[in-house]
Amino acid sequence: MKKQKILNKEIASFDFQSGGEASSNLKNILRKLGVPAKTVRKTAIITYELEMNVVIHSCGGELTALISENELEIRVDDSGPGIEDLDKAFTAGYSTASEEIREMGFGAGMGLVNVKRYADQIDVKSSSKNGTHVRVIIEL
Ligand SMILES: Nc1ncnc2c1ncn2[C@@H]1O[C@H](COP(=O)(O)OP(=O)(O)OP(=O)(O)O)[C@@H](O)[C@H]1O
Ligand SMILES: [Mg+2]
Repeated sequence: MKKQKILNKEIASFDFQSGGEASSNLKNILRKLGVPAKTVRKTAIITYELEMNVVIHSCGGELTALISENELEIRVDDSGPGIEDLDKAFTAGYSTASEEIREMGFGAGMGLVNVKRYADQIDVKSSSKNGTHVRVIIEL
């Protein structure tokens, strides 16, 4: 099945001004494409959490979205420092966010848990050398 790229957007590290733009842009694109509201909402939760993780925990990266007739593929790639322990990262309440970040309302340790809950498929590859690469499939 041929997939079409509908978004590719850079995500800057620690840029809380623009943080959330990629997921917000994607939301608008999906609405225009006529994707059902429930799927748009689910996708927005997933992409917002992954985008903010890049803003907060990484050195910067990008979000790419591809669509085919029956699925939406989201790729969020960053350049490190990587997730040390993936099992811990997917545990509710686990966060390495600093006090400063927590004061901004992040760091509940619920982001990846929610991504996993709403994704139909998820694949995470992470290392200190190559950064973090998340691929999510959402069925349409
Ligand atoms: N892109 C990333 N690069 C490096 N570490 C990450 C990345 N994404 C997540 N992590 C690590 O996994 C932990 C859990 O991530 P998760 O999104 O679940 O929680 P959080 O970002 O700390 O808090 P919340 O998402 O609730 O605001 C993070 O605290 C961080 O240590
Ligand atoms: Mg998070």
